[in-house]
Amino acid sequence: GRVCLAYSGGLDTSCILAWLIEQGYEVIAYMANIGQEEDFEVAKAKALKIGAKSVHIEDVRKEFVDETIYAAVSANATYENIYLLGTSLARPIIARKQIEIAKREGCDYVSHGCTGKGNDQVRFEISYYALMPTIKCIVPWRIPEFFNRFQGRQDLLDYAAEKGIPVTQTKAKPWSTDENMYHISFEAGILEDPDTTPPADMWKLTVNPEDAPNTPERLVSSITFKDGRPVKVVNAGDGTTHTDSLELFLYLNAMGRKHGVGRLDIVENRFVGIKSRGCYETPAGTILIAAHRDLEGLVMDREVRKIRDTLSPRLAELIYNGFWFAPERELIMSLVDHSQKGVDGSVKIKLYKGSCTIEGRSSAVSLYDRDISSMDIAGGFNPQDSEGFIRTHAIRIKAWEAVKAKKGNQ
Ligand code: ARG
Ligand code: SIN
Repeated sequence: GRVCLAYSGGLDTSCILAWLIEQGYEVIAYMANIGQEEDFEVAKAKALKIGAKSVHIEDVRKEFVDETIYAAVSANATYENIYLLGTSLARPIIARKQIEIAKREGCDYVSHGCTGKGNDQVRFEISYYALMPTIKCIVPWRIPEFFNRFQGRQDLLDYAAEKGIPVTQTKAKPWSTDENMYHISFEAGILEDPDTTPPADMWKLTVNPEDAPNTPERLVSSITFKDGRPVKVVNAGDGTTHTDSLELFLYLNAMGRKHGVGRLDIVENRFVGIKSRGCYETPAGTILIAAHRDLEGLVMDREVRKIRDTLSPRLAELIYNGFWFAPERELIMSLVDHSQKGVDGSVKIKLYKGSCTIEGRSSAVSLYDRDISSMDIAGGFNPQDSEGFIRTHAIRIKAWEAVKAKKGNQ
């Protein structure tokens, strides 16, 4: 049979590649360029040397930013109120391209290097089944012949030596990472003790906020949004302007990196029920969600916002759990998209030593009425109207307090 393997170029998937060939499969290796730092040509040569029939390198950065990243930003989606979903949002994009290649190359199988304890296996495989119901998954880390043979890194290194697989990274880092242009994650190894403070040299996508420049950076009157999606970024200092969705995202990443914005250290609940300690760097995402959330204060109706806010955690959870290609995701997303009509305008941002501060906002479709909001002028509002409003609301409260007093006397 033919397998399309999601290949990263690292030790695990290199051994998986060799092992699949040893089991008699023909392997098509697939690498997604999702914005991670990687020498794709070196990785390609490595896969071919191991014995891949062909290697497909696909740049999916544009669809990643347009389809999943900006969708999540428009919903202010964070899992457990904090995690920006950097890995979760990449998986459906990676899986979709993998299925495209599997179909083109006539593969009956797809394969990946995720463990049986994690979220990523769920995200990949649900996406595969959604997009190609007949596809079969080979998951080595869930196959006893594989996981019994490779019980630790040394077993993988021995196998690599035996198979002539070049091991590029001589000294393994004491944690595992997943990197794309939205974020990098750090888990496992020394981080498994949730009380161990990550070493300063672990962080990769941002400078230490303490070492960030003493001069703040201002993105003046822009970040600009249209229908809840960022469309323009302008730097107040040097006038740098970006309007392409991918370019402006990468620019915000560079700015966030420079000023140490977007670090996170949390303990989260995996879908499979296991708790996991993870550290993350999400520079552009942190800036964008702060700006977007702020703009909504100016332009969004209160009750619309309330309803959307009840659904954001649901959306985050189902994205986290791997249900991007599911009807409930489409349902919630269509409501979010509707809520974003008119989320147009610009937000002023200051980046400084790890913080992202809002310094103002404006919009042509603002719901803010300066006259009615003013403390200085009536602006058409009759202060006497408030008396009845408050009295009416107090009816229920008075009844409640009366009953409480009665109960207290018993
Ligand atoms: N815990 C994060 C998540 O579930 C990050 C997962 C990182 N994945 C990986 N294969 N290292 O989204
Ligand atoms: C893995 O288990 O492969 C990484 C962690 C995760 O998917 O949650």
